[in-house]
Amino acid sequence: MRHSKQIPGTLITLMRLTLLPERLILESRPDRSLLESALGAGVPLLHSCRGGSCGACSAQLVTGQVAYPHGAGLGLSDAERAAGQILLCRAHPTADVEVVVRTVRPAAQVEIRRLPCRVERLERLSPEVLGVHLRLPVIEPFGFTAGQHVDLILADGTRRAYSLAALPSSAARLELHVARVEGGRVSGALFGMIAPGAVLAIEGPFGALEPPSPTGPPLVFVAGGTGYAPLRALLLALIEAGWERPTRFYFGVRRAVDLYADHELRAFAAQYAHLHYVPVCEDGQGPADARCGRVHEAVLLDLLGPTVPEVYAAGPSPMIAALRLGLLERGLPMTQFYADAFG
Ligand SMILES: Cc1cc2nc3c(=O)[nH]c(=O)nc-3n(C[C@H](O)[C@H](O)[C@H](O)COP(=O)(O)OP(=O)(O)OC[C@H]3O[C@@H](n4cnc5c(N)ncnc54)[C@H](O)[C@@H]3O)c2cc1C
Ligand code: FES
Repeated sequence: MRHSKQIPGTLITLMRLTLLPERLILESRPDRSLLESALGAGVPLLHSCRGGSCGACSAQLVTGQVAYPHGAGLGLSDAERAAGQILLCRAHPTADVEVVVRTVRPAAQVEIRRLPCRVERLERLSPEVLGVHLRLPVIEPFGFTAGQHVDLILADGTRRAYSLAALPSSAARLELHVARVEGGRVSGALFGMIAPGAVLAIEGPFGALEPPSPTGPPLVFVAGGTGYAPLRALLLALIEAGWERPTRFYFGVRRAVDLYADHELRAFAAQYAHLHYVPVCEDGQGPADARCGRVHEAVLLDLLGPTVPEVYAAGPSPMIAALRLGLLERGLPMTQFYADAFG
C-alpha cells in the first residue's frame, strides 16, 4: 500500500520511511537523504562522514526504491550494492522505503544543546596537532557518550565537527584534538588568532559511535592522525569499565613527529597487558618498533586471527574507506566494524 502524501502548497511528496527491526515509522522527502530525514526526526542513526565515503550509514533496503542525485559514494563495495545495501547519507527516497538499520538509540537519550564555551587551554601535542581544552558553563549540564563529537562554532558562525577526546565525567570540560589544515578556517583560527580566554560555542553531541562492551571478542582500534581523539575516549571508557578483551591499538600518521599519542599509548600498554600498541608511520622515521606505511595496510596485513575481532576506526575518510573495503574482502562482518570518518 502506498502511503505517500504531498506537502501542502508544494510539489514535494512525503514518503514513508520504516526503520527495521524496530519498525519505527517516519516521514521522508525526495529532496533529502534518508539519513537527514531520520536525524531531523531525532532518530540518531549510525553515521559519520555524511559524504558517502565511510560506509557507517549502510543499511539493507527491504522494500521501495531510492535514487542518488549526488552520486552513490564510495562507501560500499559492488557486491554490497548488488546485495541491496544502500548508504543512507546518499540515498533519497523515490517511493515508500523499508530499511534495516544497524543502530537506533532512543531519541530520548540524546539532548542536543548549543552552549557557549571558553577556551581554557591550548596545548601543542605535535607540530600539527593542538589539544583544545574547553570549559562549559557549570550550570548547563552537557551529556555525551565516549565516541561522540561536537560542532565547534566560531564567532562568525563557521562550524566544524571535532571528536571529544576525554570522558564525559570530566565536569564541564571538553578536550578536542585539532589537526592543522592548510588554509583551514577553523583549524587555522585555533592555531593562529584564538587564545586562551576566547569565547566560542559548541553544539552537540552528535555521532553514534559507542564504547565497546568490556567483554567479548578481541578488539582492534585503528586511529589515523587525530582519529586518535574518539578512540582515546573509547579506550578510557573501557579502562573505566575494567575491560578484559585482547586489544590491538594501531596509531598511524604520515610523519613520525605527528605520532602525538605515542607516549600515552605506550604508558597504557605498559599498564594493561592485554593492550598491544602498534605505531605506524608513513615516512619510516618512527620509533624502532614502528611499522612503515599506511595504517590500514598494517591492520590488513595482521588480520584476521582465529577469532574475528570487532574493529573501531577513526580518521580521514579515504583511510576509513580503504580499511572498510579491505576488511570486507577478508570476510569481516560489517556488523563488527564501527567507524568515525572525518569528512
Ligand atoms: C564526525 C567528524 C569528526 C571530526 N573530528 C575531528 C577531530 O577530532 N580532529 C580534527 O582535527 N578534525 C576532525 N574532523 C574534521 C574537521 O571537522 C574539519 O573538517 C577540519 O578541521 C578542517 O576544518 P577547517 O575549517 O580547518 O578547514 P576548511 O576551511 O574546512 O578547509 C580548508 C581546505 O582544506 C581541505 N580539508 C578539509 N578538511 C581536511 C582534512 N581533514 N585534511 C586535509 N584537508 C582538508 C578542504 O577541502 C579545503 O580545501 C572531524 C570531521 C567529522 C565529520
Ligand atoms: S557513508 Fe554515509 S555517513 Fe559515511
